[in-house]
Amino acid sequence: MNSFELYKKEYIDKSFERKDLFLLLRQRYKICKALYPGSFVHVTPSLVFQEVVYVDSDKNAKRFFEEIDSIKQFINLNKSYKEESSYRFMYQDYSTPIDLPYDYFDLLISQWAGPISQSCKKYLKPGGFLLANNSHADAGIAFLDHDYLLVSAIKYSNGKFKIMENKLDIYFIPKSSKIISKESLIKSGKGIAYKNTAHSYLFMKKGENILI
Ligand SMILES: C[S@@+](CC[C@H](N)C(=O)[O-])C[C@H]1O[C@@H](n2cnc3c(N)ncnc32)[C@H](O)[C@@H]1O
Repeated sequence: MNSFELYKKEYIDKSFERKDLFLLLRQRYKICKALYPGSFVHVTPSLVFQEVVYVDSDKNAKRFFEEIDSIKQFINLNKSYKEESSYRFMYQDYSTPIDLPYDYFDLLISQWAGPISQSCKKYLKPGGFLLANNSHADAGIAFLDHDYLLVSAIKYSNGKFKIMENKLDIYFIPKSSKIISKESLIKSGKGIAYKNTAHSYLFMKKGENILI
């Protein structure tokens, strides 16, 4: 199977590309440079963001990204910006030090791949955004982390993503009365049930000169 076939099977055929989600984020927030740990072969962010670094320890992902010509062709045919795309893949565990600058990226993407909000926070610039879902508890972890502020909930219905920036206090209210902490969520690696949920959440990384 060539690289594009794997992308097609995992993302296009399952209508799971999420290009609309990334476009929506780019329209609403200033985002050019994205870091995507646990990306697998989900190269869709490069259709929307000019500079993307993908990190994954899966050997199929490594093989996929080695097919440079077909990936470049796919990006060039489908990207929605004028500049030349710049992307790279790093074959490694994202929880080990990554040879990337600190405080650099505008967006850190965490989708179904573990506690990225913690391991990769240092590469996100203050005022930059973390896009997290809660499948591996990462959104719940970020909500309890004082370095992050919840700025929007991304709802998904009838095939459309929508950014909700108001009434955010309805989210992350646990259904159970059991005491939870950032550490317990990291340890379990599983999202808990909340009274209200969204597809994903956007958090801003706080910083000294960032007005919130
Ligand atoms: C379920 S896939 C999600 C893929 C992609 N984020 C998406 O939304 O389509 C999880 C990916 O995370 C990667 N992953 C999980 N933990 C990792 C780690 N510590 N370092 C690097 N990659 C990791 C796995 O190898 C796998 O490719």
